[in-house]
Amino acid sequence: MMPSANLNDLPQHVAIIMDGNGRWAEQRQLPRLAGHRQGAINAHHIIEVLTEYKIPYLTLYAFSTENWNRPRAEIDGLFQILEEKLDAGIKFAQEKGIKFHHLGKPDRLPPKIRERVRQALELTQNNTKMTLSLAFNYGGRDEIVEVARHLILSGIPAQNIDETVVSQYLYTAGIPDPDLIIRTGGEMRLSNFLLWQAAYAEIYFTPTLWPDFDKREIDKALIAYSKRQRRFGSVATE
Ligand code: IPE
Ligand code: IPE
Ligand code: MG
Repeated sequence: MMPSANLNDLPQHVAIIMDGNGRWAEQRQLPRLAGHRQGAINAHHIIEVLTEYKIPYLTLYAFSTENWNRPRAEIDGLFQILEEKLDAGIKFAQEKGIKFHHLGKPDRLPPKIRERVRQALELTQNNTKMTLSLAFNYGGRDEIVEVARHLILSGIPAQNIDETVVSQYLYTAGIPDPDLIIRTGGEMRLSNFLLWQAAYAEIYFTPTLWPDFDKREIDKALIAYSKRQRRFGSVATE
């Protein structure tokens, strides 16, 4: 059941760049949206596995600020899937004790989605088993620009600004930095994901396409993580 013998070796916060849906579909001569549908089913599956492992924080990258450059039909399809999944996800979240969180700017999102997100956050706000952050219309640079704006508007004196203050203005305020960032689909880049928060994250890349990233694959990633030595700029202690 558990991927690792030592529970202390499990990350507290896992963040996933769910990449490769399009290629998964192309391999099967299916439209890209069929890949996104399968990707959403897989996200549900992985959320379930990680709740079983009692991982308290999970973040999923679903739509970047740059993904607006895709064809209109793909964008519309992605938001359609998101809407359906949010609806179905609320019941599941209540059963499993999952609290929803959104990373990203609410503006530019279709009004229906904005309303669904508001509802999902409100209904699940008292759940305590896992905080599930969904990053859509999210960009790490956009997030940092927003922090700068808020800091200026808050009138806080410049000498009082430190890393703790900046963290409190990020979309992830109150959420610890990710310990493990997984990217499926073979690309070895962050694509504007959690730029500030990734400072000391362990990064795990796999060529496996997101719809194929199953329990065995997440176990492999968690085992790889448990073997990493994190030094945070210091020296090894043993
Ligand atoms: C990731 O899959 C999902 C989103 C970015 C929305 P892609 O759609 O990027 O799949 P590939 O990279 O083209 O295979
Ligand atoms: C990153 O994937 C964004 C998400 C998975 C939501 P992309 O497919 O958009 O990234 P690039 O274009 O390969 O860098
Ligand atoms: Mg991609």
